[in-house]
Amino acid sequence: MSKLYHERLVNSKQMLAEAHKNKYAIGHFNINNLEWTKAILEAAQETKTPTIIATSEGAIKYMGGVKAIVGMVNGLLEDLNITVPVALHLDHGQSVEMAKKCIEAGYSSVMFDGSHLPYEENLTKTKDLIKFAEEHEVSVEAEIGSIGGEEDGVVGNGELGDPIQAAEISKTGITMLAAGIGNIHGKYPEWWTGLSFETLDALQKACNMPMVLHGGSGIPQEQVKKAISLGISKINVNTELQLAFRDATRTYIEAKKDLDDKTKGFDPRKLLKPGFEAIKATFVELTGWFGCQGKAK
Ligand code: 13P
Repeated sequence: MSKLYHERLVNSKQMLAEAHKNKYAIGHFNINNLEWTKAILEAAQETKTPTIIATSEGAIKYMGGVKAIVGMVNGLLEDLNITVPVALHLDHGQSVEMAKKCIEAGYSSVMFDGSHLPYEENLTKTKDLIKFAEEHEVSVEAEIGSIGGEEDGVVGNGELGDPIQAAEISKTGITMLAAGIGNIHGKYPEWWTGLSFETLDALQKACNMPMVLHGGSGIPQEQVKKAISLGISKINVNTELQLAFRDATRTYIEAKKDLDDKTKGFDPRKLLKPGFEAIKATFVELTGWFGCQGKAK
């Protein structure tokens, strides 16, 4: 058997191997709709940036299902003539079945998040998925420890990753490893004391592979840079794009532009445009921090 995904998609393997080797990180951006997807793809193409587009299970439900998402992403890749490397990734897949369903539908990369399971079960299920994923040239992300906070119904207490588990799970054939290193989904609370670089350093030494920083929104730039220098090669961003979209849309509405019938400010293509542009600008700013801009060959 071979690839089930569109010829314009790639898996995450090569982009992450290059990022890990050359000490920068690839941006993983969660999408919610057509505007989100088109904004990210346009910004990626304009800045020559390899990119991972991701959907949580919640976003999959919201958009109608995996076929709708695969169709939309593949269609945009062709219609917009996107030539930079783009992976379509399942974020926090809660079961191996869901990850397999995404692969069958045309995803090129998947995460199986078994962090809520006892570690041995997480390991066994990750191995089971790897076999299927490899047959279809799909990259796999695993998770140990857990990410604090809540992401689309996935809740974690923020347990730090264990280096012994990191070393073991890294040998299963996964492409990238997510681990709890003091990171939190959503807005960082006042009491947050920062990432645990000691934990990250120990995990990286144990697994020596691309690691993933979840909860990438709102981490100060110096901490992002240090995390990359210690082996983070993929940074997941969701909330930051939502806040940028919210702020730009709020400005438009507070200026009562949506109420201007003469200019048809109520037209969704106008109403959603400031948010669309804000997503593009946020993508450009963050990928500048991550160091992945211009890395598409
Ligand atoms: P944020 O919403 O905090 O950016 O986290 C995104 C994420 O980790 C997706 O997996």
